[in-house]
Amino acid sequence: MLRFFLILIIGGMAFIAQPGSLRADEAKIAKAFLNDPDNIAVGRKLFQKQCARCHGQKAYPGKAPKLKPEKYEPGFVYRRITKGFRGMPSWKRRYNKKQRKSLTAYVMSKDFTN
Ligand code: HEC
Repeated sequence: MLRFFLILIIGGMAFIAQPGSLRADEAKIAKAFLNDPDNIAVGRKLFQKQCARCHGQKAYPGKAPKLKPEKYEPGFVYRRITKGFRGMPSWKRRYNKKQRKSLTAYVMSKDFTN
């Protein structure tokens, strides 16, 4: 009986610990991944295809903020890409985890231009 309650309590805690937001480990991206030129190249292609129309120079002024990667943590960029925020769409259904991480790698890289 006691064991039953323990399972219930632990199960309940696990449930509560996983709200709508991303789990911390998912937003944590390894340095090796971020620095890999192949991932950065993939991210650059995706950015030019999907993000530049709002964030890039061709976007009309005021449509989306100019990105300032020097002010971001990779986890923040990944979360915004994954979940979206107000005018920023979520890309979770469009791009898999690796593609979203690659986008993050590109935005955080020294190659990034906006
Ligand atoms: C339809 C236009 C649009 C597209 C396409 C778009 N974004 Fe955004 N994005 C926005 C807007 C608007 C915001 C500002 C949201 C807010 O803070 O209100 C934003 C915010 C962000 C932020 C946070 C910036 C900050 O300083 O708070 C990041 C990072 C970002 N976008 C990355 C991307 C990436 C990467 C892509 C491509 C996968 C992308 N965006 C595609 C409109 C867009």
